[in-house]
This record gives sequence, C-alpha cells and structure tokens, in this order.
Amino acid sequence: MKCKILFVCLGNICRSPSAEGVARHIIKERGWEELFEIDSAGLHSYHAGELPDPRMREAAQKRGYDLTSRSREVEQKDFYSQDYIVAMDDANATELYHRAPTLEASRKIIKMRDYFPEEEKLDYVPDPYYGGRDGFELVLDLLETSVERLLCDKLPTAR
Ligand code: 4NP
Repeated sequence: MKCKILFVCLGNICRSPSAEGVARHIIKERGWEELFEIDSAGLHSYHAGELPDPRMREAAQKRGYDLTSRSREVEQKDFYSQDYIVAMDDANATELYHRAPTLEASRKIIKMRDYFPEEEKLDYVPDPYYGGRDGFELVLDLLETSVERLLCDKLPTAR
C-alpha cells in the first residue's frame, strides 16, 4: 500500500505545490515511486485551476523543481482517501480540524513544522504571497529539509 500524503496551504499556489514538487523530486531521486502518492490542495478556491504563482515557479525551477500542479480546494473525500494531511501553518491546521468529518480523519492532520530541524526558529511555513522574493526562497529552504524528513518518517516498511 502506498502512503498517501496531501500538502495543504491557503491558496494552493505557493507553499503546498512547492512541498508537492520537492516531495516528487525526492521520490524520483530515491526510486520511491511505488511507496508514495503525493498531492496538494488549498483551503480556498480563489485560484482553482491555476498553475502555481509565477514567482514560486521561478524560484523552484532554479533549484530543479518543476511545479506543474493545478490549484484545487481540499475536498471532504481527501479526509478519507489520504493517509496524512500536512498543514503549512497553524491557521491551515485549525481550518483542517474544522473541516474534518470524523475523529479518525482529524488524526490524519499533521504540521509541516513537526519536521523542521531542531535549530529552526520559525514554527510554520510563512505565506510568501504578499512579500518579496526572499519569502519564496525561505519556503523552499524550509521545505527542502522538512519534506525529506517527513518522507523518511513515513516511508512504508518493506513487505
Ligand atoms: P499559499 O499562498 O497559501 O502558499 O498558496 C497564498 C496564495 C494566494 C493567496 C494567499 C496565500 N491569496 O490570498 O490569494
């Protein structure tokens, strides 16, 4: 059985598609395609159908990540089909808890910051949308370490 991970942020055009792109890159590099299924979604649908923000795509491209997902809103069925639903910040997590249909579903919600290195001073992935270029680089810096740690932690054991 594959481990299904859904990355979630507000708009699904900056942080969560980047987490998805970083995860896909690591999975391909390690040959883990049979072990994981990765997706991303947002808590609102303002940008539904859109590619990630051009600023995010450009920053990601420079590091070798091709962000090609299309924005979509989190759906009720995600709470049943996914194994883990990973919130980029506390507001995202709170909203996910509100929308979780069952206690079992709410137990799937985890936070990206749980996988930050101990020395990291931030405890969330900051929304880069209204800021400058540095914000997009910071998103990638945080995700490059934490997504790898998450995948290693959730690596399905060999059958
Ligand atoms: P994201 O960033 O949640 O990382 O995708 C945002 C993208 C769009 C908006 C807010 C945050 N927005 O308000 O449109």
